[in-house]
Amino acid sequence: MEAAPRPRFTVPALAAARAESRRLVMVTAYDALFAGIVDEAGVDLILVGDSVATVLGGQRTTLGASMEQMEYHVSMVAAAHPRALVVGDMPFGSYQASTDDAVRNAVRLVKAGAEVVKLEGGQHVADAIAAIVAADIPVMGHVGLTPQSYHRMGGNRIQGRDDDGAERVAADARAVTGAGACSLVIEGVPSPLAARITQESPVPTIGIGAGASCDGQVLVLHDLLGLSPRSPSFARAWVDLRAAATDAVARYADEVRDGSWPDAGHSFT
Ligand code: KIV
Repeated sequence: MEAAPRPRFTVPALAAARAESRRLVMVTAYDALFAGIVDEAGVDLILVGDSVATVLGGQRTTLGASMEQMEYHVSMVAAAHPRALVVGDMPFGSYQASTDDAVRNAVRLVKAGAEVVKLEGGQHVADAIAAIVAADIPVMGHVGLTPQSYHRMGGNRIQGRDDDGAERVAADARAVTGAGACSLVIEGVPSPLAARITQESPVPTIGIGAGASCDGQVLVLHDLLGLSPRSPSFARAWVDLRAAATDAVARYADEVRDGSWPDAGHSFT
């Protein structure tokens, strides 16, 4: 008898996982091919991150990601019909100007296939989060190292190292969860601060570069597959696909050049 397919991971499953002390697994994907792979691997959540601008687009920062790009990548991931929950990142500029803007753009991502939208920031985005939640769209917050704050931070820098910084990140987390976020990404903060925020948080936290005490973890897929030419020090590769891919293409090139490809087995008579 075939095993029953695993149930779809839904927004209520976030709270249930926390209640049962089950760690949440989230990973990025930007298209149907990789969404299918990570879903088959059994992740709980797929983040269509604005990191697409750096990882696939070769940009230095995520700031250039547009609504149109995010809609396109969300729709590709949704087309894989994953059992994992699809989280769509709201790009820089899509929620800063007004709460109306924030709701309108969150609706666009949901129409493209997102089940949850994620946006970066703390106290200054609480109104935007509350407005999106009031429109019945689940929101994931993102505090600490927020890559869209690249210029203010002076680069992608670990946040909350001193007492003032730690209090600011903790206050941001409270503002985001108080505004109704259903989950919270904590990025690039010292582990004890992430542990404290997780303990105080009414909703599950998902860490990246934030130690092991969060309720779950997220990584950029291309980092964990060893595809990225550079990755942050807090990431790890479980396989070196970049080397494997480079080697495969180099062997193909050699065989084209020495005339051994295509061979008789791959030619028509
Ligand atoms: O865009 C992204 O990939 C992210 C993760 C790094 C959390 O926001």
